Formats: sequence, structure tokens, C-alpha cells
Amino acid sequence: MKVVVLNGSPKGDKSVTMQYVKFLQKKRPDVDFEIVPVARRMKAIERRDEEFQGIIEKVRVADAVLWAFPLYVCLVHSGYKRFIELVFERGAHGAFEGKYAASLSTSIHFFDHTAHSYIHAVCDDLGMAYVGAYPAEMRDLFEEEERERLLGFADQLRDTVERGIPTARRFPPLQHTGFEYAPSDPQSAVDTGSKKVLILTDADAADGNLARMVERLAASFAGGVQVANLHAIGMSGPCLGCCKCGPDYECAYTGKDSFIDFYNTNVKTADIIVFAGAMRDRHLSSTWRMFLERGFFNTHTPTLMGKQFGLVISGPAGQMPDMRQALEGYVEWQHANLVDVVTDEDGDSSRIDALLDALAARLVQCAEAGYVRPLSFLGVGGMKIFRDEIWGHLRFVFQADHQAFKRLGVYDFPQRDWKTRLLNAVVLPLTRIPAVRKRFRNDIRDGIFAPQARVVEEA
Ligand SMILES: Cc1cc2nc3c(=O)[nH]c(=O)nc-3n(C[C@H](O)[C@H](O)[C@H](O)COP(=O)(O)O)c2cc1C
Repeated sequence: MKVVVLNGSPKGDKSVTMQYVKFLQKKRPDVDFEIVPVARRMKAIERRDEEFQGIIEKVRVADAVLWAFPLYVCLVHSGYKRFIELVFERGAHGAFEGKYAASLSTSIHFFDHTAHSYIHAVCDDLGMAYVGAYPAEMRDLFEEEERERLLGFADQLRDTVERGIPTARRFPPLQHTGFEYAPSDPQSAVDTGSKKVLILTDADAADGNLARMVERLAASFAGGVQVANLHAIGMSGPCLGCCKCGPDYECAYTGKDSFIDFYNTNVKTADIIVFAGAMRDRHLSSTWRMFLERGFFNTHTPTLMGKQFGLVISGPAGQMPDMRQALEGYVEWQHANLVDVVTDEDGDSSRIDALLDALAARLVQCAEAGYVRPLSFLGVGGMKIFRDEIWGHLRFVFQADHQAFKRLGVYDFPQRDWKTRLLNAVVLPLTRIPAVRKRFRNDIRDGIFAPQARVVEEA
């Protein structure tokens, strides 16, 4: 059985993810796992069609495709995303159709679930039979139990392919409306006062709706609004995954292109930031990916704390809730406030006008009030992962994060809550006495609510 492994790491062969695949190559010699570098060679693959077609030919003759990738800021690397875009743009999807597929990631589990959803959705769009995901933690390979589990995944894939077992489609085809947004002039514009507004867009000539939405939103603000196109902010290449930024935020691109300067002087200083993008396949474009992953020169440290965020998306975003979740996760990691998401899905120009006006007004209102909603599971859970990783295994590399996390109070352990510790150490054992336990069980509800009620009473 032949499995083409599409390597999504910008590190090529020196990739953690590929060690998982190489382990499978050794342990399952009956399966021919052929690794094809994709993310690392993306510039060449895009430039030289014969290289692209060579990969497509390998897919065509394979029994299955293994999408093997690291997580790069809540999704796959921009080079990998670009490859997927090219498959559709160059009409190469026929090579994938009817083939089995599976996905394998390594990461620290920060939004690996939505990255696998993305790949699953792409497989569904390519007419592939998606067998399943293997979201490994990057250190899993060190554990005997995890190595066994990995072999189990390979066996599942092999058995499914060999026995021709059908698999379920998860994502219905995207419905594009073909609607053309025709904005009208805003009746009034919201005064931005001292607040600095930055709209970042990747609109190119083909993105008429997005360009018009951006223009219309910019016109809804009275006062200076900076609109920056990601194609023109000086990103000369994608994140290399080298982690040179780890010790002191110094990126390998420092002094080599103008992205870092742009980020520091325009993004970090804005009060209101709008991300505007058109969907390419099931997510925002590879250009947006590049922007987000290049922002990783700040490593895991939030740099946009307290800022107001808006999202403007052209395309069927509502049909891909995982995309929205990943973007929400990004904003929550930044400890910023996502005010709203406006898309062109309504198919009604006057309604989009009204939503853009409302977005502008609410962004300014929230900025003036300094309102940031509490983090949800996405941000709280994510920060706990970062807290534990930077405290532990990753501190050695990400030393700048460690200093920042100390400063920002991310390290919320050991918990010095003496009242709770005393309660757990002294009173908790008493509740094991049957008579006390009976009384305690009856009192649990009031015990939880009463202190909250006292706060309300005293308010
Ligand atoms: C720029 C960058 C962004 C990353 N983003 C994420 C992320 O969003 N979620 C996560 O769980 N891990 C993230 N990681 C961790 C990598 O996914 C992890 O180290 C992976 O094992 C690297 O695999 P590779 O060596 O095959 O490239 C990131 C690492 C880098 C360098």
C-alpha cells in the first residue's frame, strides 16, 4: 500500500512531525510512506509547475494521502495552505478524488482540533474518504504508550484502505451565493476621537466584495483610518519555524524585511484592529496565514491586549464555524475584545451597510469604555496550555515568554489561596465522617451561592 505524506512543516526534513512519520516508516515496512516536502518548498512549487505536477502525480498513483503538519498559529503553515489553494486554482483536485486520507499533526494542542477540521473539510471538498485525525502532542513520541497508539492509527488507516471501508463526509459542500455587494454612502460616520483604527486586508483585484466592504467600513469612521494591504507590508517570506525568536523575540527576518517594523509601529499601536479577508477554500487566505504566523516573533506573549477587534469576511464563513472559532481563539489569546464579525453572506447590500456602520460604532464605543469581555474556554484553556508549557518544557527555548508571563501574572500557581488550602487540608477530611457528610451534602448548594449573594447585597 502506498501512502503519500504531504509534509506541512517549513522545516522540511528537520521536522518534529516527520519523526512521527519516519517512526511509522520503520515500524510498518509493509506500507510505503513516501514523504513529499510541501510547506518548505512552496515558493519553488508555485513557481515551477513541473514540481507542482510531480506532487500531484504522486498523489494520483497513491492509495492514500496523509496530511502531516505542525500547527502554526491555530492552523497549518501558510505554505501548506498555499499548496491547498493551488490544488483548487490549478484544477488538480481530480488526483485526490476517491482517495483515502488521514491527518497527523504535532503541536502543543492549541487549536489542533480546528486545524484537523480544516483538513477534513478540504478532503471532503476534494471528494476524498477521510479516515481520521491523529493530533499528537509534540513530545508524544518519547512515550512507549503513545508510540503504540501511533501504530494503531497507522493500522486503522491501512485496514480501512485495504478493506475499502466507507467513511462519512462531515462538511457539506460550501454554498457560494455569487452575490455582489453594492454599498451606499454612509449617512453619518462615527467619530474615532483619539482612537487609532487599523484595517488590515488581503483584498486583491478578484476580491470585489471584500474591497468594497473595507472601503465602506473605512468610510463609517470619521477621522483617520489606516487601511493596509497585507500584500504591501513587506512580508518577504513565511515563518521558518526556526524559533530563533524564543530567547528574546528576535526573528530570523530582523533587518531582512519590513514586516516586524510594520507590526511594531502599526499593529501594536492601534486601538481598533479589523481583520478583513476573503475565504479561500475553507479558511482565510495563505497571505493571512503568513501574517499571523510571522506575528509569532512575539512568540506566545500577547501583544494586542485590550484592543478592539472586528472581523470582515467575504465568503461563506457561517458554513465553516471552525474557522471562526480559530479566529476567536486568536483574539482571546491576545486578551483582546472581538466586537463582531460581518460577512457578505446575507446577500443584502443595505443590511451589510448597516452591519458595517454598527461595527464601526461599537468598536469605538468599546474602545472608549475600555471594555474587554471575559475570556471563554478558548482563551482560558489556551492560556493554561501556554502557562504550563512555558513554565515547563518550552521555557528553555521561549525565555522571553517566561519573563513576560511572570510580568503578566500568567503563572497563577502555586495557588497561595490560604483560605482554600486550609479548607481542603483541615475541613475536607471532616466531611468523610458520615454524619458531617450528610449535613455537608445538604448544604452544598447554599455554600456555593451564599458568598455570591453577599457580594450582590453589599453592591
Ligand atoms: C510559529 C509557530 C507557531 C506555532 N503555533 C502553534 C499553535 O497555534 N498551536 C500549537 O499547538 N502549537 C503551535 N506551535 C508548535 C508547533 O506546532 C510544534 O512545535 C510542532 O511540533 C512543530 O512541528 P515541526 O517541527 O514538524 O514543524 C507553533 C510553533 C511555531 C514555531
